[in-house]
Amino acid sequence: MDKIFIEGPNQLFGKVSISGAKNAALPILASSLLAKNTSIFKNIPKLGDVKTILILLKHLGVQVEVTQDAIKLCSDAVQRFEAPYDLVKTMRASILVLGPLIARFHRAVVSLPGGCAIGQRPVNLHLDALQKLGAEIKLQNGYVYAKSKRLIGTKIKFESVTVTGTENIMMAATLAKGGTQIVNAACEPEVIDLANALNAMGARISGAGTRVIEVEGVEALQGVNYSVMSDRIEAGTFLIAVSATGGDVLIQNCNPKYLSAAIDVLKKAGVKIQEQVSSMRVQSNGDLTAIKVETEPYPGFPTDLQAQLMAMLTQANGKSVIYENIFENRFNHVAEMQRMGAKIRIQDHKAHIFGKTPLTGAPLMATDLRASASLVIGGLVAKGRTEISRVYHLDRGYEALEEKLKVLGANIFRQKEGKEVANAERVSFL
Ligand code: EPZ
Repeated sequence: MDKIFIEGPNQLFGKVSISGAKNAALPILASSLLAKNTSIFKNIPKLGDVKTILILLKHLGVQVEVTQDAIKLCSDAVQRFEAPYDLVKTMRASILVLGPLIARFHRAVVSLPGGCAIGQRPVNLHLDALQKLGAEIKLQNGYVYAKSKRLIGTKIKFESVTVTGTENIMMAATLAKGGTQIVNAACEPEVIDLANALNAMGARISGAGTRVIEVEGVEALQGVNYSVMSDRIEAGTFLIAVSATGGDVLIQNCNPKYLSAAIDVLKKAGVKIQEQVSSMRVQSNGDLTAIKVETEPYPGFPTDLQAQLMAMLTQANGKSVIYENIFENRFNHVAEMQRMGAKIRIQDHKAHIFGKTPLTGAPLMATDLRASASLVIGGLVAKGRTEISRVYHLDRGYEALEEKLKVLGANIFRQKEGKEVANAERVSFL
């Protein structure tokens, strides 16, 4: 397993370009199951999770062709409808093939995703809603067995907001007979991006990005040429990294309006951020004010930036508080940060962060995707060497993060599995 080494402290200066959004790419790639003929998707990030969903789609019989700047998919020859446990367990978002398989092929056998480091991650809301659309759902041996005639549009009211639940149902409803109204829908920008891709395929979706989405079922969808939005969580990660280390960075190919809650929080903490249409400039002298933040469904502060913000708040003057309201166990990064000297106290779903606390480099272990990003930020701030193991967690959701940070002046280096770092390299990564 690869490791990442950081020699801190570092400040970050220069320009960085944001890659395509993981959480838009995954449902959009899954939506290729709904369309006749070939779909061509661009700006798909080169990530572990994208690789996993392509392996799953190929397993189902989707023809997949990866070129330099696009991914071409054709699902007309699909004749397997099973998403096996050994694939689904590595990436929960595999559940996103369920809605499309039922809608177009009227059958699916999908492994229940099971929990992960950040929580139980049930999919009951997905299954209840699919049943309301007319699917027959049975749970057995850890699998969802589903079959249906043509789905029938109806009103679906989610008792709580679910992003992939909204996406699964929106996809399933595109080929249902009649109209479907999704109430208490997730408003994330990635839901809007998926709706835009589906409408380009011939779907009839309105209201995406609001709490009420209307879908008028059609007979068939056609393959499409579509470019995926840029990753707001990667952009937010860079905003927070520069805020924590100090520096001056232009973040390009991003959409600041999708980060307004995070930008407001960082400005409150004393960070200077200038937003343009598709870029933002972040400047920080490392002098930060403690703040109180709650994670909420979009447009609130995103849970996917919570761990990164916590790393930054170890450098804020005073006591900050973070409430994690979305997942029940998303503080795995705290123990690792405490090993760097961070002063953090957890009380239920509340974290108290005492700053400004000097951090020292340490050997750390990544536990989940966004926790690993927070350890990188901690390593950039800390004095001395930080070594992060299990970086496959990081590679699931960030494309070439250490390369992008190196260009900004970070003293960061990846040790490929089994390749010893030459002593000269240990001393300096420049
Ligand atoms: C999506 O996960 C994202 N993943 C997550 O990003 C993100 O953290 C999450 O939304 C919240 O914003 C993708 O889009 C691929 P939810 P999802 O369903 O859809 C509970 C990352 O780091 N729930 O909105 O799985 C659930 O347990 C990842 O990129 C049910 O109880 O999240 C959670 O507490 C991590 N029953 C809450 O709802 C259900 O059927 C929100 O989950 C579904 C969800």
